[in-house]
Amino acid sequence: MKLNNKLIMLLSAASLALGLASLPSYAEDVTYTVTNGNEMDANSYNGFKLFRNWCARCHGTYGQGMVGPNLADSLKLISKEEFYNTVQNGKVGTIGSMPAWKENTEVMENSDKIYAYLKARSDGAIGVEKPKKAK
Ligand code: HEC
Repeated sequence: MKLNNKLIMLLSAASLALGLASLPSYAEDVTYTVTNGNEMDANSYNGFKLFRNWCARCHGTYGQGMVGPNLADSLKLISKEEFYNTVQNGKVGTIGSMPAWKENTEVMENSDKIYAYLKARSDGAIGVEKPKKAK
C-alpha cells in the first residue's frame, strides 16, 4: 500500500472514532452500507437481528408488514424522532396496538441500529431478503 493511502485510512479512522465518541448513539446520524446486494455493515446487520428478535412477529421478518404495518413504508412518512418515540412509548392506532419498549434495554440502547436496518429497507438498498454481515 502506498504511503498516501495509509495516511488517508488513518485519518478517516481517526475522524470516525472522534465522531462516534463525541455524540450519544441516540443523536448520531444513522447510516448504513449495503454492498454486493445484501451485505450490510455490522451496525445495521445487528439492527436486523434485533428487529428479527423483537419486532418481526408483528411487522414481518424484513419489516414488510403483518399485523403491524410495513415499516419500510412507514419510514418514508415518519421522522426519526417519531420512530424513536413510537418505539419507546408504543402506539395505539387504527391498525392495532404496539407495546412500549422503554423497559427493554436491549431495544432502547440499540434502536438506532434497528432504525439503520429499516432505513436501508425503506430506501430500497436491501429488499425483502436475508441480509448478510459484510466482511
Ligand atoms: C405485538 C405486535 C408488535 C410488536 C412486537 C412490534 N410492533 Fe410496532 N406496531 C404494531 C402495530 C399494531 C402498529 C400500528 C399501530 C397503529 O398505528 O394502529 C405498530 C406501529 C409501529 C410503528 C409506527 C409506524 C407508523 O407508520 O407510524 C413503528 C415505528 C413500529 N411499530 C416499530 C416497531 C419496532 C422497532 C418494534 C420492535 C422493537 C416493533 N414495532 C414491535 C405492532 C407491533
